[in-house]
Amino acid sequence: MKTLTVALERRSYEIHIGSGLLAGAGAAVRAVCPRAGRLFLVTDSHVAPLYARKLEESLTGAGFEVARHVIPAGESSKCAGQLSELWEQMMDVPLTRTDAVIALGGGVVGDLAGFAAATVLRGVDFIQIPTTLLAQVDSSVGGKVAVDLKAGKNLAGAFWQPKLVLMDTDTLATLPDSTFADGMAEVIKYGCIRDREFFDFLRARPSRAEIMAEIEPVLYTCCDIKRQVVESDERDTGERMLLNFGHTLGHAYELAGHYETWTHGQAVAAGMAAACRVGVTLGITPPEVPGQVEEALAALGLPTAIPCARDNYAAAVGRDKKGEGEDISLILLAELGRAIPHKMPKAALLELL
Ligand code: NAD
Ligand code: GLY
Repeated sequence: MKTLTVALERRSYEIHIGSGLLAGAGAAVRAVCPRAGRLFLVTDSHVAPLYARKLEESLTGAGFEVARHVIPAGESSKCAGQLSELWEQMMDVPLTRTDAVIALGGGVVGDLAGFAAATVLRGVDFIQIPTTLLAQVDSSVGGKVAVDLKAGKNLAGAFWQPKLVLMDTDTLATLPDSTFADGMAEVIKYGCIRDREFFDFLRARPSRAEIMAEIEPVLYTCCDIKRQVVESDERDTGERMLLNFGHTLGHAYELAGHYETWTHGQAVAAGMAAACRVGVTLGITPPEVPGQVEEALAALGLPTAIPCARDNYAAAVGRDKKGEGEDISLILLAELGRAIPHKMPKAALLELL
């Protein structure tokens, strides 16, 4: 098992990465929640039949009473209706302020359960047990929790750091290939923005089997980069924006496909490739970089270009959180392994696209 510590003073926590960790979850949770009697376990309809029982056995073995709540799998569950349902169920249990909420699943379960934990009884302890590659390398670390609104994704949320992140690499075995590839888009992103050596390591392993053979160091490297970024900018006012490499244009592609044609990972992959090409046009990104990034993405079956109308680009650029009035800070690669924010007029970016 590998362990990382996210150092955020009183909100510090450990990330445990390894094979077979679900079986030892009870002891690990007990160590961080010594006074808890009850645990409210949130999972989804795909993950529950695969892993909930094993986790519950370990938790009850450590003396916890466990209440399980299963949400329908999919992004549409990350909504205010499900959040309200969770609050009511938590009070029925009843959960008290010394108890805790556990998320077992992908980013949808983690974001929803985390927001419920942040708000119920004005905040109770929260444990992340991520089971998708995307959740393990990104959403379970850093404390962003949210639900979607009609106006857009993640528009109601909070920063609520978990007490522990426990990632059992065995759970990745049951992921569909396309869901695994979605997570790989974010894995490749870390290499692009922060670690050239890691990018080359990934390029030399262009298949799911080769990545899985090295999954512990892959997860460790990604979580370590995210840890550093979160420690220096917990509230997302500066450096944390670099994690959005590929996401501004990715949002345009998600919109172009009405959030159905393209998954988030596919859209981010094409967004990173497009940001590399824009960077070359602006004289910021070296000309050989787009080809190298496209090769790494394509090897995992990820798209490197998605057709997109100007309206969709305009909507995504206009709404981007890195926008300041008429300008936007687009995240570009100064070189492979080093991302920078590049402030430019939104209109100029739209012309380029
Ligand atoms: P997801 O949670 O919908 O999971 C994808 C699919 O995989 C679902 O059908 C799920 O049921 C299934 N699944 C999960 N684990 C499985 C397993 N081990 N075996 C088989 N199937 C499994 O999606 P995701 O890609 O994990 O997360 C996407 C969400 O994460 C989005 O809502 C996004 O906004 C959010 N997100 C949040 C952050 C953050 O910092 N909080 C960062 C990135 C993304
Ligand atoms: N996933 C982006 C962030 O955590 O800031």
